[in-house]
Amino acid sequence: KKDGYDTFMLKEIHEQPHVIAETLRGRIHQQHIVLDELKDIDFSKFNKVYFVACGTAYHASLCGAHVLKKVAHLPVLSEVASEFRYNDPLIDEKTLAIFVSQSGETADTLAALRLAKEKKATTLAVANVLGSTISRDADYVLYTCAGPEIAVASTKAYTTQLVLLILLAYYIAQNLNQDVHDDVIKQLQLIPQYVDNILKDEPVFAQYAHMLKDMHDAYFIGRNLDYASVLEGALKLKEVSYVHADAYVAGELKHGPIALIEDGSVVIAVATQPHIAQKTISNIQETIARGARVILLTTHHEEVKNVQNTYYLPDVEPTLQAILVAIPLQLIAYYTACLKGCDVDKPRNLAKSVTVE
Ligand code: F6R
Repeated sequence: KKDGYDTFMLKEIHEQPHVIAETLRGRIHQQHIVLDELKDIDFSKFNKVYFVACGTAYHASLCGAHVLKKVAHLPVLSEVASEFRYNDPLIDEKTLAIFVSQSGETADTLAALRLAKEKKATTLAVANVLGSTISRDADYVLYTCAGPEIAVASTKAYTTQLVLLILLAYYIAQNLNQDVHDDVIKQLQLIPQYVDNILKDEPVFAQYAHMLKDMHDAYFIGRNLDYASVLEGALKLKEVSYVHADAYVAGELKHGPIALIEDGSVVIAVATQPHIAQKTISNIQETIARGARVILLTTHHEEVKNVQNTYYLPDVEPTLQAILVAIPLQLIAYYTACLKGCDVDKPRNLAKSVTVE
C-alpha cells in the first residue's frame, strides 16, 4: 500500500513529480495552455476574481491569486471560506469565483460556493476527487490529478493545486491577450524534473529537521509569493510535528514579531523572488544579530553572510517557485515529526475531510 515507504505522507511527497506531470498532461499544446473545460467562458466579462478555500487549499489559492494578478492584471481577492461567507463578499455576475478543495466536501467551502451562486457569480471548482459535491455544484470544474491522498497533511494535492492554478492564471492571461512568454510554458513542462531533483536532496532537509525537533516555536518569513509558501510551510510543521510555527511577511518582523527572537530561535526564510530576495535577506541578518539560527531556501546566489544552512532552488520563472519550495518545506516538517516520534499520517485532532463547520 505504501510502496515501500514508512508512511503515506512520505509516499505522497515522492509521488509529486508523477502527479504534477499528470496534472500538466494534455494542458499544454504548441506553447499554448489548453483548458478545454473552460472554453466557453468569456473572461473579458469579469471585473474581479475571488479565490475561496480552507487550510492548505487556501494557501494554494493565495499563490494562484498572486500569479493571476501578476500575469492577467485582474483584481483578485482570496479569502478563507469560513470568513468569506460572513464578510459580505462583493459578488455579482461580473465575478469569477474559484473554489479550491482537495476533497470537494469541505463544509465551509461548499457553503461559500452556494452563496456565490446565489449572487450570480460564475463559479469554478478546483477539485481532486471526481464526482465530489463541489465538482457537481460548481458551473465549471478543473481536476488536479493527485490521485487519492491518504495522509491527513496535504502534500501532493497542494502542489497539483498550485500547478493547476498557475496554468489557469496563464490561460486567463492568454485569453485576455496578455503576453505569455514561451519560456514560462517551457519551464512549466520541466517542473516534474525539477521536483524530482529537489527530492534527491532529501537528506539535506532531514538534517535541517534536527534544528527543529527540540524547539517550541519556529518562525517562517517570506515576501510576496514566498509569504504564501511560508504560510503553508508553517502549517505543515505545526500539524505534523506539533512545533508551534508562525509565518510572517518578512517586512513585518520589525513591527513586532522580532521581539520573540532570542539566542537559538529557528528562522526559516524563503527568498525566491529576485526583486525582493535581498530585502528578505536583510531581515534574516536582523534575526541573526539576535541569535537566530537560519534555514534559507533561495535562488539568490550571492553569498549570504552568517547563514550556515542555505539551500539553493533552481532558478526558474518566479511565478513557478511556490511549487518547488513546497518540497523542502514538506520534508522539513516530515522529518521533524519523525524525529519526535509523531504519527505523521494521522496527526492528533485532525480529520482528512472537514465536513462540519
Ligand atoms: C492541511 C490540510 C487541510 C486542508 C483543508 C481543506 O494539510 O490538509 O488544511 O487543506 O481542510 O481541505 P479540502 O482541500 O479537502 O477542502
